[in-house]
Amino acid sequence: MPSVERIREDFPLLRSGIIYLDNAASTLTPEPVLDKMLKFYRECRANVGRGVHRLSIEAGERLSLAREKVRRFIGAKSEREVIFTKNTTEGINLVAKGLKWKRGDRVITTLLEHHSNLLPWLALGKHGVEVRVVRPSKEGVLRPEDFEREMGKNAKLVALTHVSNVLGSVSPVREITKVAHEYGAKVLVDAAQSAPHLALDVKDLGCDYLAFSGHKMLGPTGIGVLYVREQHLEELEPLCLGGGAVEEVSSEEYSLTSSPERYEAGTLPIAEAIGLGEAVEYLQKVGFETLAQHERSVLKRLQEGLEGIPKAEVYGPTDPEHRVSIVSFNIKGMNPHDVAAILDHSSSIMVRSGHHCAMPLHRELLGLQEGSVRASVYLYNTAEEVEKLVEVVEKIARELL
Ligand SMILES: Cc1ncc(COP(=O)(O)O)c(C=O)c1O
Repeated sequence: MPSVERIREDFPLLRSGIIYLDNAASTLTPEPVLDKMLKFYRECRANVGRGVHRLSIEAGERLSLAREKVRRFIGAKSEREVIFTKNTTEGINLVAKGLKWKRGDRVITTLLEHHSNLLPWLALGKHGVEVRVVRPSKEGVLRPEDFEREMGKNAKLVALTHVSNVLGSVSPVREITKVAHEYGAKVLVDAAQSAPHLALDVKDLGCDYLAFSGHKMLGPTGIGVLYVREQHLEELEPLCLGGGAVEEVSSEEYSLTSSPERYEAGTLPIAEAIGLGEAVEYLQKVGFETLAQHERSVLKRLQEGLEGIPKAEVYGPTDPEHRVSIVSFNIKGMNPHDVAAILDHSSSIMVRSGHHCAMPLHRELLGLQEGSVRASVYLYNTAEEVEKLVEVVEKIARELL
């Protein structure tokens, strides 16, 4: 891995003296990604798939290369399985709204989920789909046998997060997928928090759908990916209909084209997709093995430091080896938003506070009405930065700030 100092040079925002520990919400974007997007605007700014002139062809080739990079990144079989979306939320909604449901079908999800992987299923509940919610342990650990208990002949889909955006715990996706498939249910993986940190391989995970967002993994906002396993590619109804998604159209009817265009009606965020392709390449150059090693050592200091503060309460796996990138905590007796505001105002430390779009997890699993403070690290964070966070939290807890 290039040194952290070298990596930090690619993120000019870090030169302003901030300590950015809100990576689970959105990461910073490195210069090579920004350059790549600007190059598209400067060199071949045109629409794709809609022209035979050279700019359109060049833009189309760059987009296609980005899709190929993403395909390799997740180990998909073909580019047809890689659908560009706006973000994780849109990918999950595409599956929820695109599958054909009938009364009595069952969706199994978990109490760990971000609202984006819960609301689309709860909404189906209004149309007679049965929604079952599996409870993890208090540390955020899911057990395959708890999924098995919820299965039945009507189980149609299991929708679960790969990494919890509050506890950082990693779900045993492979094992849960095995159980689901034995009962004929498909599996959707919310990879919003795993794609930035873990080497993903959809073949190894065995899942049917997998969704993630570019902005949480060094890419720009406005671009995400939904992976759909080849054999299901024609099963979903698109979320959106229009230009680019059709094979034939008359004034009375239309026939849809094949994936991915079938699901990408309208002009895509072309620059953003190209930026995501570059972000993926940037991460692969760093290497997930070395990235994980670096993050683990920083995260361990963060977790142990916070656990050493008498008035602090730390959530999630006790063993730092079992979590990815995230530590959520509270200072007893303080509102998490107050803690986050003091961290920023006193020391330019940026963290997330509140429910992190996971209200059921906070209220029904952790018993926290107001949520928590969340610090999340990435490849450019240093041990000194997390030590500074611990030092300031300690001062806040001792009412020195
Ligand atoms: C686990 C998880 N799922 C889904 C989302 C939604 O991502 P987006 O807002 O990019 O659609 C997030 C974002 O925080 C997340 O952490």
